[in-house]
Amino acid sequence: MKTTIAMLVAGVLGTAAGAAAAAPDWNKVPRKTFTLFYPGTGSMEWTLIGTEHGGARAMRKGETCASCHNDEAADMGKKIVSGQKIEPDAASVKGKAGSIPVTVQAAYDASNVYLRFQWKQPGGAPGPKNDPKNAVKLAVMLEDGGKVEHARIGGCWASCHHDLRSMPDADPNASKHARAKALEILPNGPTKYLAESRTAIEGRNKPLGGWDKLKSEADFAALLKEGKFLEMWQFRSAEPPRSGYVLDARHLKAAPGLAEGRNESGNWTVTFTRKLAGGSGAHTIAAGKSYYVGFAIHDEHVEARYHHVSLGYRLALDDAKADINAVKQ
Ligand code: HEC
Repeated sequence: MKTTIAMLVAGVLGTAAGAAAAAPDWNKVPRKTFTLFYPGTGSMEWTLIGTEHGGARAMRKGETCASCHNDEAADMGKKIVSGQKIEPDAASVKGKAGSIPVTVQAAYDASNVYLRFQWKQPGGAPGPKNDPKNAVKLAVMLEDGGKVEHARIGGCWASCHHDLRSMPDADPNASKHARAKALEILPNGPTKYLAESRTAIEGRNKPLGGWDKLKSEADFAALLKEGKFLEMWQFRSAEPPRSGYVLDARHLKAAPGLAEGRNESGNWTVTFTRKLAGGSGAHTIAAGKSYYVGFAIHDEHVEARYHHVSLGYRLALDDAKADINAVKQ
């Protein structure tokens, strides 16, 4: 794909974005590279089964995924994409890249936080092409303070379950559920959710997960108010960006101006601009706090689990110890 796609901020006053902001001088912002890897059918439930996953016990004691895996994510992706582990249908991803190194930068000013991602499109055979519109999507998930179970340990992994669409234990009848519309369940199954929104999560016997063990709408509203959600931003290469949150389900709305991206001969640069101020389903971004983040790239028109994902990382403002330090501009 050689086209340059630019969703320009100019003139569009989206609620999520700081449209009037001047972009940071990225040359002055430190760069850090993270490896996004192909996770196959790995889910939160899978990582907690001791007989399946060597890290399960340490996770229960609070050890983060990145503390064990940060430096070996490329090897993990290779192992999984080849079908050696947790990919029961290796034929469908034959030739797909096992991982993508992504350079991340973060900055902020008086009104906005900025995140910039750069990576080289890996090429190869991506897997089932189920998104006919968007060649590339980049998602960011952001949690505030580690209130959500497993978010501090694993970032987005907190929202990934064994019974989501395209995962092994997806319920083919999920879209017929009485609350399917409110949960924005897609024809091929549920999207992401948090354990907090369910009365129980099955972690031992099939089907793993708990998509239909729903708490009430009032419970969802209370959790949202307590800040127990993952905020989500999404760049889409052929459509306006979206933002929203994951709690009882993934709720996303168009967010003009939130993201801008371009592809120069396979080199992608995607920049998010988001107001520091929060709101319902949006965390307030402030110094002195820790945000647990994760990223995912859907490459070459793939959807659902056929993405590359990061482990969980800590983002903070002016904090040299954070995995991602957003520096003041
Ligand atoms: C205490 C260290 C530790 C922690 C924490 C940990 N893991 Fe692991 N993980 C392991 C070990 C050990 C293996 C097995 C590697 C092997 O022997 O092949 C493994 C295997 C995996 C694999 C399969 C690929 C492979 O290389 O075998 C995935 C995927 C994975 N872990 C993801 C995660 C995620 C996601 C988290 C956090 C939610 C996590 N791990 C937390 C130690 C850990």
